[in-house]
Amino acid sequence: MSHKFSRRRLLGAGAAAAVAGSAWWLTDRGLLGQGEPGRLLSSQVPAPRPFQTLLPIPAMLTPTRTDETTDYYEITQRPAMLDILPGLPTPAWTYHGSFPGPTIRSRSGRRTVVRHRNELPQPVVVHLHGGHTPADSDGYPADLIMPVAGAAASPRFSPHGHGHGATADGQRDYVYPMRQRAATLWYHDHRHGYTGLAVWQGLAGFHLVHDAEEDALPLPRGERDIPLMITDRSFAADGSFRYPLTDPRLGVPGVTDAYMNGVLGDTILVNGAPWPLLNVDRARYRLRLLNASNTRRYRIELDPQPPGGDALIQIGSDGGLLERPITHDTLEIAPAERFDIVVDFSRYRPGTQVRLVNHLGSGPTAHVMRFDVSGATVHDDTAVPERLSHIIPLDAAAAAVTRTFHFQLRSGDWTINGHPYQPGRPLARPRLGATERWRLISDFHHPVHVHLDPFQVISRNNGAPSRYDHGWKDTVDLRPSEAVEIAVRFTDYTGTFMLHCHNLEHEDMAMMADFTTTPR
Ligand code: C2O
Ligand code: CU
Ligand code: CU
Repeated sequence: MSHKFSRRRLLGAGAAAAVAGSAWWLTDRGLLGQGEPGRLLSSQVPAPRPFQTLLPIPAMLTPTRTDETTDYYEITQRPAMLDILPGLPTPAWTYHGSFPGPTIRSRSGRRTVVRHRNELPQPVVVHLHGGHTPADSDGYPADLIMPVAGAAASPRFSPHGHGHGATADGQRDYVYPMRQRAATLWYHDHRHGYTGLAVWQGLAGFHLVHDAEEDALPLPRGERDIPLMITDRSFAADGSFRYPLTDPRLGVPGVTDAYMNGVLGDTILVNGAPWPLLNVDRARYRLRLLNASNTRRYRIELDPQPPGGDALIQIGSDGGLLERPITHDTLEIAPAERFDIVVDFSRYRPGTQVRLVNHLGSGPTAHVMRFDVSGATVHDDTAVPERLSHIIPLDAAAAAVTRTFHFQLRSGDWTINGHPYQPGRPLARPRLGATERWRLISDFHHPVHVHLDPFQVISRNNGAPSRYDHGWKDTVDLRPSEAVEIAVRFTDYTGTFMLHCHNLEHEDMAMMADFTTTPR
């Protein structure tokens, strides 16, 4: 694969500043709002009224067949019209006709095979984020599924430039061994250079893994176990998703210079609905929060807080259950991170309207959704146990190898150790089974994601990890000029995988690298 990224043209204020020094964004609140990377893209239609739409729950996908070892699923990727704005349909790219796509549920240890058929006018790649997946099913950015013959290739989105790694017949089977613990995973597009666009257009869904350890706990389940995919979007005058492509014909990846820090939408969607409303019983709920936004970070809080605070009881992170619950008043969540929380709505008086607010947003983006607490008395025998799981700490002190990765802007590209992404040029060759210490250093906001295995955060800026760094993580939020150390150990699968910034505009504009695992 030899797609050469075009160097970003360095023009205007951004260019002068980028040349002038490494911390220019800190001085310009116009480019960087408080704690927010990216630049706001305004909608060309009036915003829908908040708290009018009931929270949609993505449909569960049923297997097309099962045998002793495996569940088989099929997903057709296709264009669809979504009802997000009142009276103005939004054309989208979808998994199986909906955004979010249908939710897949796997049992730990039971193989899951997902056949993706591509009826979009674009090549696609599917990645299971958080999956412990062999390289050939991990969604390497060049392993394209080409459109099925006959899928209308719109001139605006003609396949371009990529000519290999493609499947001829427009479909591909992704094989997930699921040798991993219960966790909230998600699947999304991962095409080289076009991931930001594809996810913005709707290609994201949940994939939940369950296991016996978690099933044995008295946590809320069923209708009180709710995945919440939080995204921001902007809309064009015709109702379509608005996105600042550099090249509307898609010959060149990436967004216009003004948006190279990342794209912020002005409309918050939860499970695809704008500022939705959920009617809740006075009972405990498990909320699986996923920030599936391209760039936007959130600092969320319930407003009002219940008496005594500590409303958000975190039970899990990216890689599943924590050892013990951690209570929070507020949660900071960067793109691709998951926080599994329990909220006890019986702490509120009947009839209370509880908003989920975002302290990093302003105006409409300061709100996420609302929970309306019902008056009825309900039975709730759930609990959050003091001990949830056992997590064996990785011994970073005994690490055989220490590696340093600098996430930085260089000559107009977002780079890792000075290199824009080059498929087939691994920056590291970790040995399977060996614990390594990785130092991640940032110039800007970079949510850093590592494929194949989760990691543990061992320090932040030479001090203790933050209160949001606990448990098994696969994405860690780096803020400007931070250094985070992680301990990571890759297991089971040799091959080439990726590490990258999960700000999708940064990822598309080259802040990604291969690493190749080698036999033990
Ligand atoms: Cu969620 Cu490599 O991605
Ligand atoms: Cu991933
Ligand atoms: Cu980044």
